[in-house]
Amino acid sequence: MSLPRIAVLASGRGSNLQAILDAIASQQLAAHVVGVFSDKPGCAALNRVDEARRWALDAKQQSSRAAFDEALTAAVAAVRPDWVVCAGFMRILGDGFVARFADRLLNIHPSLLPKYKGLHTHRRALEAGDSEHGSSVHWVIPALDAGEVIAQTRIPILADDTPETLAARLLPHEHQLMVAVLQRAVSGELAPPVSKASGA
Ligand code: GRF
Repeated sequence: MSLPRIAVLASGRGSNLQAILDAIASQQLAAHVVGVFSDKPGCAALNRVDEARRWALDAKQQSSRAAFDEALTAAVAAVRPDWVVCAGFMRILGDGFVARFADRLLNIHPSLLPKYKGLHTHRRALEAGDSEHGSSVHWVIPALDAGEVIAQTRIPILADDTPETLAARLLPHEHQLMVAVLQRAVSGELAPPVSKASGA
């Protein structure tokens, strides 16, 4: 019986990818990372796996967003993923990519969705005077950070927190959330939300 195949999309540091790799290495996650895909050639995330499992295309060099999305879709499809995980991936995925992988496409976002979709979530939570913050793993739909939430992790916001201290304290909790959701995914416990009628 072959292991569930996970494709990871990342644009930067890749600490969530590393958490997935570590969980697999310590036999906490029965899966295989079959590819790491990035819009940023040379990003640290790519160096966390062997060269054969890296794919990168400089999105800025592409003739159009559609060209990048088509190349990404073909590259991810080629590894036959059972799950596609956006973990620190900083591009908005095109509708074609989302439609192709909608039943197996997850994202981790550093806020307690539906609060603070988009960027600078830690600063926004601080500026709002929130008492807690967190991260969410959700299904990906074409709208940014708007898919149904699968699970969240919460931490208190401390009086002297800065965006940096808040992000740093949240990160280990994110890693645990990421692995916990993938354990459920590879165990067959996650069913994609019933796709709403288009345009609903
Ligand atoms: C994390 O906070 C994650 O929630 C967000 O990007 C940040 C960087 O993640 N999506 P990583 O270290 O690149 O995995």
